[in-house]
Amino acid sequence: MTEKLSRAQPVEVSKNDGEPRFAHPSEKEFAQILDFYGLRWDYEPRSFPLRWDDDDKVLEMLTPDFYLPDLELYLELTTMKQSLVTHKNRKIRLMHELYPEISVRLLYRKDFHRLLAKFGFGPLIESGVEGIDRVLLTERQINQKVEELGKRISRDYAGKQPVLVGVQRGMVCFMADLMRKLPLPLMMDFMSISDYGGDEHTGVRITKDLDIDLTGQDVLLIEDIVDTGMTLNYLLGHLRAKGAASVEVCALLDKRARRIVDVPIKYVGFEVPDEFLVGYGLDHMEKYRNLPFVAVLRAEGG
Ligand code: IMP
Ligand code: MG
Repeated sequence: MTEKLSRAQPVEVSKNDGEPRFAHPSEKEFAQILDFYGLRWDYEPRSFPLRWDDDDKVLEMLTPDFYLPDLELYLELTTMKQSLVTHKNRKIRLMHELYPEISVRLLYRKDFHRLLAKFGFGPLIESGVEGIDRVLLTERQINQKVEELGKRISRDYAGKQPVLVGVQRGMVCFMADLMRKLPLPLMMDFMSISDYGGDEHTGVRITKDLDIDLTGQDVLLIEDIVDTGMTLNYLLGHLRAKGAASVEVCALLDKRARRIVDVPIKYVGFEVPDEFLVGYGLDHMEKYRNLPFVAVLRAEGG
């Protein structure tokens, strides 16, 4: 046994630069999911010899598909083919015996969201909130992003005194968190606009205008989400007419796929898919704003 263990040494797999040659499309998809959630990965970095003949020649090896350095975890993805699963399970068992200090997991497709969730990443399948389909951005991901945006904005506005303008009510969480990351002598103000839809008016109307005079000011408009871009387009026109020295936009979420009016957004937190989102200020019929994460609302009847 001791002799056997001494032979049990991982072997580095030599690599070319550039995009790895994934053996299967699902591996590439998995890599993209890891990228999306900011988890670093290596594709097939090492092989683990599992069986030798009497001359120490390696007869069988396992080369796990991924290594996640942040989690110190090897992952072997598997398809649903039962014959392969049994075979791989045997190899994983051998690897646990021969390399007890190394974490390796066999991952079924349905498992990986759950695994990501456990480490605080990815779509938590059960958010525990009624009406929510899945969590799109966790509290931790949002915090990280707000911190990053705060650094960029602080750098860009160094020596200035920007006026943060929030459009009620969706930006409430984002603006409150972001402004505390800006060590600048800033001011803030709010405005309200009418919702679109409804039959008594046709366009956007200002229902509460700003109190601060924007003449000569550096204005940073804080938005929760930009969808068609129509709201933002209207607001930019309104703000520019007030004689500000500069007007820029910071939006936490960008639903770019639905853009109709091409508005310039200088600071974007996340690009999000075309789904109805709630939480962290975003509402559905005024509810869900207080969720600390951004989630996808379950489709009606779903
Ligand atoms: P736009 O004029 O189409 O860009 O609309 C932007 C506004 O629509 C945002 O400020 C939100 O108030 C609202 N909105 C757009 N998408 C969503 C969503 O997925 N959930 C909640 N509100 C949304
Ligand atoms: Mg809004």
